[in-house]
Amino acid sequence: MQKAISTANGGTSDFVRALHDGLSEPQKNIPSRFFYDANGSLLFAEITTLEEYYPTLTELSILEQNADQIAADAGPNCLLVEFGSGSGFGSCKKTEILLDKLENVAGYVSIDISPTALLEAEQRRLERYPTLQVSAVVADFSRKLNLSGVAEGARRVGFFPGSTVGNLLSDEVVDLLSNFREILGQDSLLVVGLDLQKDHGTLLKAYDDSKGVTAAFNLNLLERANREAAANFDLSAFQHKAIYNSVMERIEMHLVSLRAQEVTVAGITFDFREGETIHTENSHKYTIEGFTALCLKAGWRVERIMTDPKRMFGVFALKIAG
Ligand code: AVI
Repeated sequence: MQKAISTANGGTSDFVRALHDGLSEPQKNIPSRFFYDANGSLLFAEITTLEEYYPTLTELSILEQNADQIAADAGPNCLLVEFGSGSGFGSCKKTEILLDKLENVAGYVSIDISPTALLEAEQRRLERYPTLQVSAVVADFSRKLNLSGVAEGARRVGFFPGSTVGNLLSDEVVDLLSNFREILGQDSLLVVGLDLQKDHGTLLKAYDDSKGVTAAFNLNLLERANREAAANFDLSAFQHKAIYNSVMERIEMHLVSLRAQEVTVAGITFDFREGETIHTENSHKYTIEGFTALCLKAGWRVERIMTDPKRMFGVFALKIAG
């Protein structure tokens, strides 16, 4: 057996460990956080420009329609705190829609695990808003984080667009929203974008687009494993598949093994049956009631729900409950 890939400090890399663990489970899986290497981020940015991938364009139009209302809910002199760096098509525009409308904003903080993404976002903000107080915080926003010292006294308005909450399990959503409540503090407002339940045909097209961009995004995981984790996946022997799981109310992305085969990842060999899949992503689709209940569990009450005429997507403005 070969030695597993080591990181600079001598440990097995997070990716190798996740591959070894996930491919050893009865339902093989690779966590979706590994989608976003440089190539995966570019592919995701391309997905968000596709008409079939309706969430981005729909959320943008909801924000444009409701920016005045959100600014009124936020009030003057607030600190805008974005969870994620807001990179990629549409994302920076979403933030700018708010920054253009918020009255006399006290500052803008973006929190992201990736320093590169943060730097790019910070640069863009400073170009467009030269006098804005911009802070970039390299951190995992699912962990405890203290923002004291940043625009002290200003009301905090959290922003978490893009339906990223949909990629989490419901317990994880509650934990994350609770953590946002602690980071933002009393009297804060949280604006969250969320994809809603709809006909399965529309959903399936969004996650298996006609140009094959989502397929390339999914298969990029295997390419990344070959490059970074000494794997020997034959990319032509796997196929992208999106399904709607009606029990869990979510789109699932899988990679289907087209034949019986063996694949080695950093010294460990895994057997695949023909038709066996690697589960790579969940994208939960909510009802307004279902998400409202999760918010309440996390200590938030829904102040306002903004949607498009077809109720495809929801932007929720939340305030701390009780
Ligand atoms: C990032 N996230 C909200 C996207 C989604 O829709 O679940 C990721 C994605 N996967 C395939 N297409 C887009």
